[in-house]
Amino acid sequence: MIKRSIIAGCGSYLPERVVTNEELSKEVDTDDEWIVARTGIRQRYIAADGQQTSDLALAAAERALEHAGIPASDVDLLVLATTTPDQTFPATATKVQHRLGMTNGAAFDLQAVCSGFVYGLAVADNFIRAGQAKTVMLIGAETFSRILDWEDRTTCVLFGDGAGAVVLRAAENGEDAEQAGETGHNRGRGVLSTHIHSDGATNDLLYVDGGPSSTQTVGHVRMNGREVFRHAVTNLASIVDETLEANGLAADDIDWLVPHQANKRILDSTARKLGLPAEKIVVTVERHANTSAASIPLALDEAVKDGRIKTGDLVLLEAMGGGLTWGAGLVRW
Ligand code: ACO
Repeated sequence: MIKRSIIAGCGSYLPERVVTNEELSKEVDTDDEWIVARTGIRQRYIAADGQQTSDLALAAAERALEHAGIPASDVDLLVLATTTPDQTFPATATKVQHRLGMTNGAAFDLQAVCSGFVYGLAVADNFIRAGQAKTVMLIGAETFSRILDWEDRTTCVLFGDGAGAVVLRAAENGEDAEQAGETGHNRGRGVLSTHIHSDGATNDLLYVDGGPSSTQTVGHVRMNGREVFRHAVTNLASIVDETLEANGLAADDIDWLVPHQANKRILDSTARKLGLPAEKIVVTVERHANTSAASIPLALDEAVKDGRIKTGDLVLLEAMGGGLTWGAGLVRW
C-alpha cells in the first residue's frame, strides 16, 4: 500500500536581470544600508518584459524532471503555487502542463501567497497518500515585480521574481529506509508530515488592493510591515513546534531548516527560538529577496545541488504569507 511521497528531484529558475539595492535607490527613495539592515536583502532578480510566471515555472519544472530522471508523461498532477498568474484564468498550471508535454491527470493553481509552496506540499502529499496521484510536479513561481507599487518604498524593495519545483513520487512506507539510516515505524525517505493554517481575520495586514471581482484591476501589494513581522515570528515558532511534536522530534534532530525567505531578521528569530546554529539554515534572501511561493523551492534546489542537503537528512520547511497563511513540512531527504 502506498504510504508516503518521496521528493525525487528539484529544479529552479531565476530571470537574468539582477537589480541591486544601489540600482534600485536611483529610482526609489531608499538606500542599500537601510535595506540590508532591516531585511538582509542585497539584490533581487526581475523578470524581463514579456516573461511570464508560466515561463519561469516551465524552466524550473523542466530542470526538476531532469534531476529526478522522470519523463513528463509520468506526471499525473501538476500544482502551481502562485499569486501572480499569467491571467485570471485559465490556471497558469494548465499552460505549464501543456508546454511540459504532460498529457495525464490534472493541473491547477494554488493561492496561499508566500505559504504557497508548503500548502502545495500538503496537497501533493495528501493526493499521493490517498492514492489519487503517483507523480506530482509541485511548482512555486512568481513574477511579484508585476504587482509592486514602485512608488512605495516600504514594500517594493522586499520582493523578487523566480521559480522552483520539486517532483514527488509515491513510495512504499519504509522504501529507502536503510539508505536513510532509519529504524522504527517512521522509516524511509519522504514527506513525514505537513501542517497548514490560516486566519482570515488578519487579511488586512498584507493584501493586494485590486482584483477581478472588486476593482477589476490587478492592484498592488499593501502591507503593515510591523504587524506582519510580529505575526511571522509567533506563527512560525508555533508551526515549527507543532511539526516537531507531531513527529516526536526535537529541534536538535533537524539537519536543515529551509524557511520561506522573507527577511533575514525573521529567519534569525525563528532559528534563535529553535536553538539552531546559523550553519543549519539555508539562506538565499540576500540574493533572491522575497520570491513568495518560489522562495522555498529555490533555496532547497540551491542547497541540494551544492551538496549541503544529502540523502537521509531531515529537512524542515516553513512559511508564512498573506491571508495570513502559514505552514510547515518535514521531509526525510
Ligand atoms: N528605505 C528607507 N527607509 C525606509 C524604507 C526604505 N525602503 N522603507 C521604510 N522606510 C522608513 C520609514 O518611512 C520609516 O521612516 P520614519 O521613521 O521617518 O517614518 C522608517 O524607515 C521605519 O519604518 P518601519 O516601517 O517602522 O520599519 P521597520 O523597522 O518595521 O521595517 C520592514 C520595515 C522591513 C518592512 C519590517 O517591518 C519587516 O520586515 N516586516 C516583515 C514584512 C515582510 O517580510 N513581509 C513579506 C511578506 S510576508 C512574509 O513573507 C512573511
